[in-house]
Formats: sequence, structure tokens, C-alpha cells
Amino acid sequence: MSKNILIVYFSHGGENLIEDRIVDLHGVGNTKVVAEALQKALIEKGGKANLFEIEPLIPYDKSYDATLARSRQEYQDGAAPLINDGPNGFEAYDVVFLGYPNWWGTIPAPILSFVRDHNFTGKTVIPFVTHGGQRFLYSVETIAKEARGATIKEGFAVAAAYLSAAPSVIEDYLKKNPDLLG
Ligand SMILES: Cc1cc2nc3c(=O)[nH]c(=O)nc-3n(C[C@H](O)[C@H](O)[C@H](O)COP(=O)(O)O)c2cc1C
Repeated sequence: MSKNILIVYFSHGGENLIEDRIVDLHGVGNTKVVAEALQKALIEKGGKANLFEIEPLIPYDKSYDATLARSRQEYQDGAAPLINDGPNGFEAYDVVFLGYPNWWGTIPAPILSFVRDHNFTGKTVIPFVTHGGQRFLYSVETIAKEARGATIKEGFAVAAAYLSAAPSVIEDYLKKNPDLLG
């Protein structure tokens, strides 16, 4: 039987720095693109996967500089800002893919909020990251510390500058982890 999979992600779809240029992502952040490609791939292969987007109650500014400043402060404070209500029926999922941009070498603060707000006992958590070159860096350690009761499984990383490689990264990942499709 295929696993009951939830893909949870946070993504900032405003301005971003890609290969030293400020680019407006027009509401569709890199991590959102990867999360949607993952859901598509899982469903095409006969799996079951729902998507849930984490949204901070006070959204990040569209501006790259303002987002950098706010997130730096949150990182320094270990802040966990208020976020939207979680997905229905979280208890029923076996596997939770957790997707985020690498911010300051670790998870963005809204991911910390989500992880603290939910009970991960008995669940497998698979992190996936989009990044400007540093892949996961410290983010997986932080998730492992905060998501009490979860089993953390190795995930996958997609570089912001090579976003178009996402479908093949996902394809390779699912080939190596056929158990996800039951
Ligand atoms: C506030 C901020 C901090 C970032 N910090 C890092 C970092 O420490 N290491 C890294 O490799 N990339 C970093 N990046 C680049 C992002 O991880 C990358 O562009 C990512 O794909 C953005 O995903 P999104 O569009 O889903 O928000 C940072 C980007 C922002 C906006």
C-alpha cells in the first residue's frame, strides 16, 4: 500500500538574489516550484501526496533587503513567528516532506514554527531544500532537534540557479527510495 504523504513547504516568492542578480519571482518561489514538482512526480507514480504551504501571519516583504534584515533578526533571536493553521488530519500522514529555502545556513523561522506546532511522533520527515550554494548546511540538525519523535530520512537539494534540474533530482530521489510509493 502506498504511504500517506504530506508535502509541507515554505517559500518566499518575492525578490531573490540568483547568481548575483536581484530577480522578482512574482509570488512563485523556488521551493514552491520544487514542492509542486514533487507532488506531481509522486502522484504520477501512483503515490498519494497532499501539499501544504506554510504562511507566516505577517508575510515577508517582497523586497530582498527587507527579507534579509527580518530573517537575520529572526535567526539571531531563534524566533518562531505565528503561522497559518496547519493541514487537516496531520496525524494520519506517515511521511512528511519538509521543504524550505536555506536561510542563514538553516531553516527559515516559519519552518521552526511549524515543526514546534506539530507532533511528529512515529512520522518519517524528509527535508528538501533550495539554496544559493550551501545545500542543507545546518538545517537538518535543527529539524532533528526540534521535530521530537520523528525519524529523519535523507532528502534532496536543488540549487536556485539550477531550478530546471528539479524534476530530474526528484526522479533520481524517488528511484532510490521506491518504498515511498508502496
Ligand atoms: C533571507 C535569505 C537568506 C538566504 N541565506 C542563504 C544561505 O545562508 N545559504 C544559501 O545557500 N542560500 C541562501 N539564500 C538563497 C536561498 O536559499 C535560495 O535563493 C532559495 O532557492 C530561495 O527559495 P524560495 O524562492 O523558495 O524562497 C538566502 C536567501 C534569502 C532570501
